[in-house]
Amino acid sequence: MSTYFNYPSAELQKELSSIAKKMATPGTGVLAADESNGTMGKRLASINVENTDANRRAFRQLLFTVPKEKLEGLSSVILFDETTQQKCDDGKSMIEHIKELGLVPGIKTDKGVKDLFGSEGECTTQGLDDMDKRCAEYKKLGLDFAKFRCVIKIGQNIPSYQAIMENANVSARYASISQANGLVPIVEPEVLCDGDHDLDRCQKVTETVLAATYKAMSDHHVFLEGTLLKPNMVTPGMQCAKRATPQEIARATLTALSRTVPPAVPGIVFLSGGQSEEEASINLSHINQITDIPKPWNVSFSFGRALQASALKAWGGKNVQAGQEALLARAKINGLAQLGKYHGDGKATGAAGESLYVANHQY
Ligand code: 13P
Repeated sequence: MSTYFNYPSAELQKELSSIAKKMATPGTGVLAADESNGTMGKRLASINVENTDANRRAFRQLLFTVPKEKLEGLSSVILFDETTQQKCDDGKSMIEHIKELGLVPGIKTDKGVKDLFGSEGECTTQGLDDMDKRCAEYKKLGLDFAKFRCVIKIGQNIPSYQAIMENANVSARYASISQANGLVPIVEPEVLCDGDHDLDRCQKVTETVLAATYKAMSDHHVFLEGTLLKPNMVTPGMQCAKRATPQEIARATLTALSRTVPPAVPGIVFLSGGQSEEEASINLSHINQITDIPKPWNVSFSFGRALQASALKAWGGKNVQAGQEALLARAKINGLAQLGKYHGDGKATGAAGESLYVANHQY
């Protein structure tokens, strides 16, 4: 193992760590609005709206033109490539609107998952080949971070060594390409919640995957102060009969993270992974209420489904103001959860209480 390598220049270190720090501002989190066109189609189908460029643009315009004085709880937004080219009705780009709200804009740079040959249904993530060129273009467009999602499945014989090592290495390589281009990588090794495994099994898999991920990050000389981690919360599998309380989920999650994520990482931002809006917020708040397990990073959210479900429903293809109010309400709640100050009783009605679980979720 070589111990001779180069740290990024002082200038690049400063740039990356100041972006990452801003994204990890206490009381805020990340809005993941980077659904691919196919995934967005499924979201729109749920409210009987057709999956057209115009409708995807209309919903994203709603998200990025909320009144600034009412916006609390967000630091950044993840976009899909299509959105980086789109303009709002006033002729300004979506990216300009996000910046005017004081938020950091970023981009999904993965190109989805692909089966791992010879594995028992496991996968790797594509997108490395032309990533360097795409990252340079995105930085020029004013984007400051990138996201790349890897997927690990739990089953009778899986995850395998092959899947854990491949996904750790691909994540680390993506992180290094992003940083070379001035983009802060959000590293996302998502352990899926599909299956009948219990809380304990999810914790063990999550610990093993995160340990492998940070070993690969070290091997690729990724500058950790200029990264964020986007993990799953540790939960029982969706088909497991023995459910866990928010307190148990919070403790298992924080234990796994404290054992594996270096303190140099400024922020951890959870994906929601099929939890309802309300469950995700309550679990996050419980994680932030724990004081007897080390928590050297800002622990927050980067929710997709659990930040947009109510907004999508309230909008319904027509009612922009209702959609914006729903987004503002959820963002505020999650900002409080980041501070451990959200005390919902989990009995939310309407969209906020609905399960957002999708089997074998693609993004
Ligand atoms: P969910 O919060 O809907 O799981 O999605 C977050 C995300 O960005 C997945 O890559």
